[in-house]
Amino acid sequence: MIEIQNLTKQFPTKEGPITVLDSVSLTIEDGDIYGIIGLSGAGKSTLIRCINMLERPTHGSVIVDGKDLTQISMKEVRAMRSRIGMIFQHFNLLEQRTALGNVCFPLELAKVGKKERVERARALLKTVGLADKENAYPSELSGGQQQRVAIARALATNPSYLLCDEATSALDPSTTVSILELLKEINQTMGVTVVIITHEMKVVESICNKVAVLDHARIAEAGEMAEIFCNPTSGIAKSLILPEKARENPVEGRVRLRLLFNGEKTFMPVVSQLILKIKTPVSIVFADMKDIDGKMYGHMVIEVEDNEDAIREVCAHLDEEHVAYVRKGA
Ligand SMILES: Nc1ncnc2c1ncn2[C@@H]1O[C@H](COP(=O)(O)OP(=O)(O)OP(=O)(O)O)[C@@H](O)[C@H]1O
Ligand SMILES: [Mg+2]
Repeated sequence: MIEIQNLTKQFPTKEGPITVLDSVSLTIEDGDIYGIIGLSGAGKSTLIRCINMLERPTHGSVIVDGKDLTQISMKEVRAMRSRIGMIFQHFNLLEQRTALGNVCFPLELAKVGKKERVERARALLKTVGLADKENAYPSELSGGQQQRVAIARALATNPSYLLCDEATSALDPSTTVSILELLKEINQTMGVTVVIITHEMKVVESICNKVAVLDHARIAEAGEMAEIFCNPTSGIAKSLILPEKARENPVEGRVRLRLLFNGEKTFMPVVSQLILKIKTPVSIVFADMKDIDGKMYGHMVIEVEDNEDAIREVCAHLDEEHVAYVRKGA
């Protein structure tokens, strides 16, 4: 478990100290895929760098597995770091080394014998789907493949935690999905707790079970992903989750419903089924849905006539199909 308590980080500038993180508190439980989302400059990278003491907090504590990293020696911090892997937006691989050489690197630092480290690195390259690329140099690999090597390298020391700072921001949408799926698999099969920093809601909504929204150095809201996704309360979370158009009030005489898909539902033509069943017009105001491995993620805003019977029927149909929804403008 990672407990961040009242963490404040200031940087000195010519104009005096600036506060980049202001009394941030968060609990990341074992097994979480925890998303930290915010606009550029919100303090996300600084926060993730404070978790492994790449930046030292000005005040507050970072407690990893019961140990406060702000209170222990640098030597102990270094030992703790082997339990916290990290990946970055631009992969940060060693260009002079092959994929295998990159994954072996942290094992060399940890003084693992040659035979064992090559075996372990090969196994990790297999886990990330690159068994056939061990002799390739970073320049010979695509962005997605380089990030896979970086993930294998981050996992080399068998960490309990994997910190990801904008790990998919340099990748195209389909490569992004495949890397997120890999992170999810690592979380589920290896039991690694994953912390994901991003400015993109779609990254968080597709794999995170918890989310914290960071806004101007402070946590605007934090909690279960599904809860915040359904009912964002802060202005910043609303604007990240719902584009302007989806937040408008319905026109007179219409009611809006936001339908939510969290991957539990396999693909189905929800709206067409609804229209067939209730025989009243349903318009789609906004939709941002993804089909990942046949499962639906995202949300959709629909409008129906403001007629209690029709609304009741719509809600009954959604309940029957186990589609979560939030009603607006009733
Ligand atoms: N070493 C530093 N010295 C002074 N200011 C800094 C330093 N590092 C970061 N900052 C400032 O802290 C603020 C937060 O930076 P940070 O990199 O944590 O933001 P971010 O949320 O990761 O942004 P982005 O999405 O653009 O990566 C910014 O205003 C930045 O200029
Ligand atoms: Mg950043």
